[in-house]
Amino acid sequence: MADYANELIGSHPSILGLKRLVEKVAKSPARTVLIYGETGTGKGLVARMIHRLSSRSAKAFVDINCAAIPASLLESELFGHERGAFTGAVERKVGLIEAANHGTVFLDEIREMEMTLQAKLLSLLDTQHFRRVGAVNATTVDSRFIAATNKVLLSEVTAGKFREDLYYRLQVVAVNLPALRERGDDVLTLSQHFIERYNAIYKRSIRGLSDEAADIFRRYKWPGNVRELENLLERIFILEEDDVILPRHLPDRIIRTVVGRAPADVAGPAQGEAAVTGFHEATADFQRKLLTRALTEADGNLQAAATALKISRHALRHQMIKLGLQ
Ligand SMILES: Nc1ncnc2c1ncn2[C@@H]1O[C@H](COP(=O)(O)OP(=O)(O)OP(=O)(O)O)[C@@H](O)[C@H]1O
Ligand SMILES: [Mg+2]
Repeated sequence: MADYANELIGSHPSILGLKRLVEKVAKSPARTVLIYGETGTGKGLVARMIHRLSSRSAKAFVDINCAAIPASLLESELFGHERGAFTGAVERKVGLIEAANHGTVFLDEIREMEMTLQAKLLSLLDTQHFRRVGAVNATTVDSRFIAATNKVLLSEVTAGKFREDLYYRLQVVAVNLPALRERGDDVLTLSQHFIERYNAIYKRSIRGLSDEAADIFRRYKWPGNVRELENLLERIFILEEDDVILPRHLPDRIIRTVVGRAPADVAGPAQGEAAVTGFHEATADFQRKLLTRALTEADGNLQAAATALKISRHALRHQMIKLGLQ
């Protein structure tokens, strides 16, 4: 059976580009990576993929949620401490960073880290040395650090809550995860994937979404992204008995935001809104064609294509990644 929980599902150009980027980053010598994406877009999944596809995969993957550990404990959790470093430090303790030597340290919700600890982290990233709390001598580690955030870090920098130098250090290799609503029909592919998974778990044989339900899924904004989709489908498996998923199985709030009417009125797709989804798809499609043509005419020379398009080479690269043209 496929390793369901570890697979990155989707075939939208942005996801195909993401898969290539993840592979490239995994195999690169980069020691710091930043993953940005709204909640539920797959940051944890991508961090584990980067570890699994890297030469560090046989070593530890240590997952640390900076928001879940009280600030007062985070330093000794990360860096460890010497015996007697503070009241209660009766034994020397090896920190998580040391435990992940030659492996990967995943620092989730990095913006929750306090400024003083951010400074220690930056120094570690720069030198590969750190001191356990209360230690005289430095310890050396060779680990990869993957940081994740669901808020734009730059605004935290502006607000004086995140160190600018650390921000730029992390920003060198950045992986951006698109929101589910920006992935076109991937919402349907993912639905089918989760339906198969829950069919196996709950011993059911749900065939899929009705056309009306699929239409609602395509137009709903999914603020909780893939996790919201996954949880919604599981809820339907638990509560409903039909072998196809229908609009009446969906929570009122979804029907209301999509159709703009009371759930009882749901007959089929509402008119008008489809054009908006179509707009983004169509624009991206046009941009893809334009870039492909410019690149073909420039014989694949990025600088020449960028000049013809009157944008910078950097902007062209960025657009190519975004549109899945590599
Ligand atoms: N492309 C995908 N294919 C398959 N499963 C996915 C995909 N993206 C996300 N998932 C699944 O969705 C759930 C949420 O993903 P994950 O926990 O990685 O999100 P996150 O970005 O870390 O969220 P948060 O910001 O809330 O921590 C997980 O169960 C994950 O396996
Ligand atoms: Mg997460």
